Amino acid sequence: MKTILKIFFLMNALFIFSCTSEKLDSSFKLKSPNNQLSAFINLNDEGIPYYSLFFNGTIIVEKSRLGMNTDKFLLSHQFKVTKVVRHSKDERWNQVWGEQKVVRNNYNEIELTLTCAPENNQMILRFRLFDDGLGFRYEIPKQKNISKFTIIDELTEFNLAEDSQSWWIPAYAYRRYEFLYANTLISEISRDRYSELVENLSGDRIGPEAVQTPFTIQRNDGIVITIHEANLTNYSSMALKATGTKKLECDLFPWSDGTKVKTSSPMNSPWRTIIVGKNPSEIVMSTLTLNLNEPNKLSNTSWINPGKYIGVWWEMIGTNQSTWGSGPHHGAKTKKVLEYIDFGSKHGFDGVLVEGWNKGWDQNWCCNGEGEDFGFYHPHADFDNKLVRDYAKEKNIRIVGHHETGTQIENYENQLDSAFAYCKRNGIRVVKTGYVNDGAQNIKRTGSDGKIYKEWHHGQYMVEHFRKVLEKAAEYEVSIVVHEPIKDTGLRRTYPNMVSREGARGQEFNGFMGINDNNKPNHTTILPFTRLISSPMDYTPGIFNLMEYRYFAPDNRKINLNHHIPSTISKELALYVVIYAPIQMAADLPENYEGHPAFQFIKDVPTDWEESICLNGEIGEYITMVRKDIDSDDWFLGSISNENSRTLRVSLNFLNSNKKYNATIYKDPKSGGWQKMPEEFVIENRYVTSKTELDIVLPSGGGQAIRFSPEG
Ligand code: NOJ
Ligand code: CA
Repeated sequence: MKTILKIFFLMNALFIFSCTSEKLDSSFKLKSPNNQLSAFINLNDEGIPYYSLFFNGTIIVEKSRLGMNTDKFLLSHQFKVTKVVRHSKDERWNQVWGEQKVVRNNYNEIELTLTCAPENNQMILRFRLFDDGLGFRYEIPKQKNISKFTIIDELTEFNLAEDSQSWWIPAYAYRRYEFLYANTLISEISRDRYSELVENLSGDRIGPEAVQTPFTIQRNDGIVITIHEANLTNYSSMALKATGTKKLECDLFPWSDGTKVKTSSPMNSPWRTIIVGKNPSEIVMSTLTLNLNEPNKLSNTSWINPGKYIGVWWEMIGTNQSTWGSGPHHGAKTKKVLEYIDFGSKHGFDGVLVEGWNKGWDQNWCCNGEGEDFGFYHPHADFDNKLVRDYAKEKNIRIVGHHETGTQIENYENQLDSAFAYCKRNGIRVVKTGYVNDGAQNIKRTGSDGKIYKEWHHGQYMVEHFRKVLEKAAEYEVSIVVHEPIKDTGLRRTYPNMVSREGARGQEFNGFMGINDNNKPNHTTILPFTRLISSPMDYTPGIFNLMEYRYFAPDNRKINLNHHIPSTISKELALYVVIYAPIQMAADLPENYEGHPAFQFIKDVPTDWEESICLNGEIGEYITMVRKDIDSDDWFLGSISNENSRTLRVSLNFLNSNKKYNATIYKDPKSGGWQKMPEEFVIENRYVTSKTELDIVLPSGGGQAIRFSPEG
């Protein structure tokens, strides 16, 4: 035993020796496992740390500053490197559910301990270089001088080497992440430019010019870079401040008092991530965000089930025939819900979402954070909770609960235990939460002095609120689908009950917005390269009735012809494969599905995958994804186009070469498209093998969805 211990210590000593033998106070180099990416970290004469990043010998991020300003001590300059440790890892771990079962976690790491001269304050810079990008973070260890402190500013920069094309949504704007994307040079980013190109950003101009992450650029040489963050915990969300140049700066959403993060040591910042691919398809496949999160914390996950749901939803937000609140058109009436349960059960769905089931919708609940308090275990008088619960159980359906908070955060937090206990009692395993508040810095918080403060949706207050809800839900074995969330930073690895979230413009905008303001055909061809890099999304695809579906009002049943969804039925099907989510909605009304031949694809498509591959894609143009079912040998393909028609040739070499497959192809008519015949479709059956080359013909705004089932 003693000998083993001795050897262990000797090995450790050798290891540390080999690490610290690197020259301190100079520059440090880190390479990715495949040697394609190199990061350099160095300190200048004033002791300010910088980093830069190269891809295959080309500089992609130039010298960019690191560090932070705090209220109590120096963590920005006068640093010296006092210790260097290197690590490498190559492991595989399994997802509870996901776009692929097994994830490889393979990186090289350098850990630099920086000591700040005047008081010997220590900060660790940890850099991890994967084949698909870089992650780095700040760690403030527990130490004599540092306990509670406030981050006034994080000084991280992203000084991109080229002023490239970028796709972005504005930060500090009133509608959170629910915007169409602008496509400009990095140096052109501003709210004025956004107003010219996409949507007039009226309202208060508070906060700097900045963009949300994931923020994606494509360089002239084709290299694609996405800047984002991973494991956002007890910190504020990072936006990227635009400087009118190719340089972006980390910009943390502040508290109402202007400070950025209230914290104490030991503290780890979220990882700042730079995902890199030689083309757009490569960044879609990145697993870096997940790899930079902590492993699953939930010991039992048997209650977390991927699946599909329908719901009392589109009839409010889309067709405008029902209401969330009381009255003759109230949607969530017992009889109606039982009909949805029947339909869901008949067609093999897992869940039925019921919105407007509870009290709180009647007085101005939307959209300024000043509405009536919702009750989260208080069913509406029209909704016979016990009857619905028993009927759902009999029909093997689970009700998907709904907690719209209207951002009355304290009201929700006060009811959390009772709300989730209600779910558990009633067999509710998934809850969709909602945080509608169409203001900028508009989330009410009561301070310890009893005064009301207004916080940002993306600041530390809300980051911590969302975590509280997630942890509480896990205690009661409930999974969460958040609408109006904080962006996804890979937390689903640690909390697999964080099943999905919105966090972008979803289908709902095609419901309530007219043709000039709804989602454009290219929107879903931008999402996979931006928002979906952080995955998954509750986009709610599957609308079949794409024209003449919306009434003027629940009591004015005239069709409002100003509404036309810029999609086709085949594209709606393809979105189930393109947009990954473990919980997917079939969003249209049951009557639009009943007897419809294309509905078969929605019934067949799985939501949990063994493997996923992005076959092709250009940002804002098109994308083709294929995914293999986790429970069978079937593969599914989804391909979509923007407003341009095109033919994509794909090789089916991902299929098992020993098998012959029956391909069921759902496609638009050649002369179709979102404007012409969007509801027309062709179903074709043919045999294919791994040697087949397929021409996917996509008309304007169209799509194609295919199920490949092996014979025999
Ligand atoms: C906005 C959500 O995105 C939508 O799905 C929901 O129906 C409404 N808020 C009401 O909660
Ligand atoms: Ca929303």
